[in-house]
This record gives sequence, structure tokens and C-alpha cells, in this order.
Amino acid sequence: MNSNTQLSLFEESNFNQKDLIPTDGKITIPAHTYTTMTELTQHCENCHRCGLSENRTHAVVGRGNLQAKIMIIGEAPGQQEDETGLPFVGKSGQLLEKILASVDLKRETDVYICNIVKCRPPENRVPTPDEMAACKPYLLEQINLVKPKIILLTGATAVKGITGNKQGITKIRGQWMEWEGHLCMPIFHPSYLLRNPSKEKGSPKWLMWQDIQAVKAKFDQLSANS
Ligand code: URA
Repeated sequence: MNSNTQLSLFEESNFNQKDLIPTDGKITIPAHTYTTMTELTQHCENCHRCGLSENRTHAVVGRGNLQAKIMIIGEAPGQQEDETGLPFVGKSGQLLEKILASVDLKRETDVYICNIVKCRPPENRVPTPDEMAACKPYLLEQINLVKPKIILLTGATAVKGITGNKQGITKIRGQWMEWEGHLCMPIFHPSYLLRNPSKEKGSPKWLMWQDIQAVKAKFDQLSANS
């Protein structure tokens, strides 16, 4: 082997990324493994820590501003997300964008959006506890990298996946809670609002309007102080 060949062994392209990721979802990935979202994304695209990897077209890691003050965490990619590799691009995503726009928050600059699991569950079923646990190190790394001041947890699965709190979303939505130094608010998942279109006072949509205004007020307060 000449010296050029030997040196080329140290080029990144010669590492098999898959070999570097513990394929047993029960073995965690240590905190601060990733220094950039690009590295993390490469690992997610080669990840086999749970069975969801078998049917994915794309791992759906996240989108938005990597320095955003607000992180929005959903449940799991759906069909369109799996096809495009981007979270919240389907009907739920369009509604989420409208909700943000209603208080002048912009999806591309003010928020970073991701999910509890990065691969689409079959038939859009809820991810299992094992799937959520296998994927959680990636999410914790994303939180470490973005360092959001506010985390919005959309729906009960997002709340459970992050905090372990199993309470129903109707009970806890709109309440600020602290988790690992981050201010979190559980909110309804946009797909729930699509199934409940009433805007009557007290309806899910009306409650979301109250919640997003509270989020915007906190965002403005934090922006004024920084
Ligand atoms: N629902 C989610 O929770 N996440 C997505 O990315 C799309 C729909």
C-alpha cells in the first residue's frame, strides 16, 4: 500500500457511517456526539436502531432556523414527509404554518421543526415506546444544537416522548412546564385541529388560538431581553 492509499483511509467517505451507530436502539448515543446538524442528519439517514428504518424513503430530521428560539416537536413523519425528507409538509404542516403566521411567526426564521421519531411508522400509527427510545438520542442532540428557549410539544406523543408525562393533551395544553432548563408548552397537534374544524369559543381551534398568543407573548418577551 503506498502512502497516498494509506492516507485516503482517513478520508471521511471511507468510514462506513452505519458501523458507527449502535444498531441496538437500547444502547444510547452519548450526548454531544454531533457538533453539527449535518453530521446528525447523515447518521439518521444511515440509522438502523429500530424497525422503522426498513420502510423509509427518507429519514426526516428537521427544518427551519438552527438558531431559532422556538423548537416545535411533532410525532412522526407521514407519507409526504417520508417522500420529501422534510417535516410537516402535508396538511398538518400547512395548518401549522397558518397558526404560526397568525401571530407573525415565520416557519423558516423563527422556528425549528422536528419530530419524536425520524422515520415514518407504517400506516401512520403512533410510534412504539421502543421506537421513541431508539430515536430519542437524536432529538436530545438536536435540542443541544439548536438550544431553543421555548419548546412546543404538539400532541400527547410529543409530550410523552420528551418528558415521559402520559397525561392527556386536553388536560395539559396551554400550560408552561419546565423540562431540562427549557420552557415547554404542550399544544394540540394540528391533525387534531383538522379533525375538529369548529372555531367556537372553547373548541380545540379556539384554544390553540389562545395558546399561540401566549407563545408569541413569551417569544416577544425573550426577544426583548436578549
Ligand atoms: N405530523 C407530525 O407529527 N410530523 C410531521 O412531520 C408531519 C405530520
